[in-house]
Amino acid sequence: MDIKLLKEINKNHLNCIVEVVALLVEVKVRTTKTEKQYADLIIQDTSKKMEVKYWEYEDNKQFFEGLGEATVVKIKGMVGEYQGQIQLTCKQIALLDSHEVRMADLIPTSDWGLDTLQKGLRYFYDKVEAPHLKSLLDQMIFTEEYYERFSTYPAARSVHHNFYHGLLQHVLEVLKFAYTVATTKKLTTRQQERLIVMCFLHDWAKIFEYKPLPTIGFTEEGTMLGHIFLGAHKSMNVMEEIEGFDHEDKLIILNGILGHHGKLEYGSPVLPKTVEAQILHHADCISGDIESILSFMTEQEESEETFTSKLWNMGTDYYKKGR
Ligand SMILES: [Fe+2]
Ligand SMILES: [Fe+2]
Repeated sequence: MDIKLLKEINKNHLNCIVEVVALLVEVKVRTTKTEKQYADLIIQDTSKKMEVKYWEYEDNKQFFEGLGEATVVKIKGMVGEYQGQIQLTCKQIALLDSHEVRMADLIPTSDWGLDTLQKGLRYFYDKVEAPHLKSLLDQMIFTEEYYERFSTYPAARSVHHNFYHGLLQHVLEVLKFAYTVATTKKLTTRQQERLIVMCFLHDWAKIFEYKPLPTIGFTEEGTMLGHIFLGAHKSMNVMEEIEGFDHEDKLIILNGILGHHGKLEYGSPVLPKTVEAQILHHADCISGDIESILSFMTEQEESEETFTSKLWNMGTDYYKKGR
């Protein structure tokens, strides 16, 4: 049976053999109690991710050892179900030449549309009037050197905004949430401008922390240094090149970038020390958490359970009815 999108596979297909074309994004080799090696694969297309069991791993080790980082594969597999989730047991796997498929059919993309996202960014950019802050944004975001990456990268490896234009959508969400709080609480114009700059820059270094899609993974730089340090480091260097960059703005913006995870145990080296930094932290959480819940519920749409399984980053399961 030929399947166009992974999400089309449902319980009506249980125990049927299906054939799918997808991106192979993860291969985890595991060992059974009887010391036999097998592989847990994760495949994805624009519609969803799916787990695939591959029991014949030992006989085909060479196939996996020769793979690049994100490869397009054709899989023939038997449809099964595990903990309410559809999964496949792979019977046959073959590489496809990437020319045979359109990458855009395999990578999930923000459904906001690039035009809307870019207009949104401009809207907030135009609110920043102080020349030194504008110059910082010009050099870090609106420059040929970085804009292509900034506008296409995902915002996370998994959990939230892990799709094409994901970083752009996340940054725009954070800007919207933060700006609403800033105007509701009547922050000064200067505070609002700093907050906008911090929102733009807080996850900027994800363009160095992650590999570009369709590869899903960290770069060496990302693994060794992380986006918090990299973002603050680069921002500080650019600020120091801008003549007369206000010292207080520099400290506040850098503290915002460094403190945006909100807690030392979540990877921030310092805590948010200003009201702007605290707003950024909360806006960042709302954007990430809500997106992770919504996409998790969509992923689990097809199971008939009333509640989703437990969403690990939120520590609970979610009620699926009433949508
Ligand atoms: Fe972050
Ligand atoms: Fe973020």
